[in-house]
Amino acid sequence: MLKKTFVGAVAALALWAGGAFAQAFPTKPVTVIVPFAAGGPTDVIARIVGEHMSKTLGQQLVIENVVGAGGTTGITRGAQATADGHTIMMGHMGTHGAAPAMYPNLKYDPTKDFAPIGLAAGTPILIVAKKDFQPKDLKEFVAYVKANATKINEAHAGIASVSHTTCLMLQHQLGVKLTEVAYRGTGPALNDLVGGQVDIMCDQIVNLVEQIKGGQIKAYAVATPERSPALPDVPTTKEAGLPDYQVSAWNALFAPKGTPAPVVAKLSDALSKALDDPATRKRLLDLGGVIPEGQQRGGTYLGTFVAQEVARWTPIIKAAGVVGQ
Ligand code: MLT
Repeated sequence: MLKKTFVGAVAALALWAGGAFAQAFPTKPVTVIVPFAAGGPTDVIARIVGEHMSKTLGQQLVIENVVGAGGTTGITRGAQATADGHTIMMGHMGTHGAAPAMYPNLKYDPTKDFAPIGLAAGTPILIVAKKDFQPKDLKEFVAYVKANATKINEAHAGIASVSHTTCLMLQHQLGVKLTEVAYRGTGPALNDLVGGQVDIMCDQIVNLVEQIKGGQIKAYAVATPERSPALPDVPTTKEAGLPDYQVSAWNALFAPKGTPAPVVAKLSDALSKALDDPATRKRLLDLGGVIPEGQQRGGTYLGTFVAQEVARWTPIIKAAGVVGQ
């Protein structure tokens, strides 16, 4: 009897402590690992939602850019961080969708090694080029790329990044193999595209709107069924003659596996409040981001979604025959 009481008391104490911990969380600034260079889409989305989350949580969300290996270096660091909620990470369709098929020795399982917090933004993919790239529209682009593939440099953010994976899909559809140039993120890659040092890129819209509107780079099409309200003059791939090239990416926040559920719930709530904040919504929408609504929010939905994404991308990547390190 005594033993049962003791065990019961310990369990009750643990529950209370967990609840009390969650109540106090966060007790210090929260580190957000962004697995790509500053200034790129993953970084920009993390900073936009993080700014409002800081207000809700009462502690600064501090971005730490940990680059390398298409984002898997930073995510591996995040997966192994102390699971107390004070270290989270911004992953995306590459790190938590394509990576397992491209990295046989990946040090994490996107479906098992995280406590999903929630989707931050959907990000339509665009086919873009340096401003003096010869083809004047997507039809000419396809013909030109097929005829000159070996002379064309394609910039991306490392094997299994969104930019790499989505341009891999494009190459596969066109039956070509471009010369790939890897960067620490599509922020730095975009600088070289504007400078004309590289020729083309497949990238997330939130990285490109300003440069497209400013005429610094050329946008051939957006790979979504409808045009983006942020870029109404850019045709869809369907309108422009490449209907099979349909792809969108997404960015989402994750905590390490084992982070207490009440803490994860607090982080999910802060993310959701950010996505409901008018000023935060405007910043994301102006960049062409797609805001998750209703049942698309929270960790449960994200967990299911990640499993679906890994299952979706694995056969696409295997068919394209690409493996990372
Ligand atoms: C990617 O290509 O995965 C991302 O755009 C990289 C980044 O956020 O810089």
